[in-house]
Amino acid sequence: MDYNKDKTELYKKIRNEFTLASLSLNTFYKLIYPKIDRKSVLDFACGEGYLTRRLKIWGAGEILGIDASESMINLAKEQEKRSPLGIEYELHSAQKLGTVGVFDIITASWLLANAKDETDLEKMISSIALNCKKKTKFYSIDHCGIFERYGNKLLNKYNMNLDSIVKTPGYIHIKITLTGVDNSKMTFDNTCFERKLLETKMHQYGFRNIKWHKIEFAGELIPFELHKIWQDIGNESIVEILEATYEGC
Ligand SMILES: C[S@@+](CC[C@H](N)C(=O)[O-])C[C@H]1O[C@@H](n2cnc3c(N)ncnc32)[C@H](O)[C@@H]1O
Repeated sequence: MDYNKDKTELYKKIRNEFTLASLSLNTFYKLIYPKIDRKSVLDFACGEGYLTRRLKIWGAGEILGIDASESMINLAKEQEKRSPLGIEYELHSAQKLGTVGVFDIITASWLLANAKDETDLEKMISSIALNCKKKTKFYSIDHCGIFERYGNKLLNKYNMNLDSIVKTPGYIHIKITLTGVDNSKMTFDNTCFERKLLETKMHQYGFRNIKWHKIEFAGELIPFELHKIWQDIGNESIVEILEATYEGC
């Protein structure tokens, strides 16, 4: 999806309504919060700053958000201006970022699904590695590696619909539509990479100790009524968090 001005407003609305987003945030919180105190953070594909702002509130030190969409970066900057937290935002595509610093923690919430193919994915991972030092932690929220479990029977319950699947060895291209509470719809073209391919690429660029975390339901950030709604997604978790540690090549 091209995040132009109209789409960014729609994205912001659906992002706030979408329960899966809060659930993944909750799991992210549990993983990152104990490690974030005063740490420098680079947030890839920061969008309008939904996660970036929370990372800062959870205790991050210096924090930079980058995104390839000018409209998203503008929204993030407007929000920063309205209620300053000391976050920097810059317009960059992940594939071409180069080194902008050396960070303790790098996050990417829905970045990798925007890679068009294996080569594109490799460019993103290479950029992530270029901003790491030994022991930098990388956390990514994505549907990576779990595409074999997708199906509309499951997705429709959560206001999602899978409109097309094109399979290629190692990954699939999907078109997925999210429906908002007022029936507004937003369609994304995403790529879901197999776990094995992702792990191989991460390894190639110096990442080790790769772990996959399922989204958890219980937690302080999620209103109790939402736990019940999402309980039956259980082991079918359609989103996972990838954690890795940079050790260098
Ligand atoms: C689904 S949104 C996620 C935004 C934010 N991380 C969040 O969790 O709300 C995906 C974001 O990825 C950005 N994006 C897509 N391709 C990108 C790329 N190649 N480099 C950097 N950002 C990219 C889009 O502009 C969009 O803001």
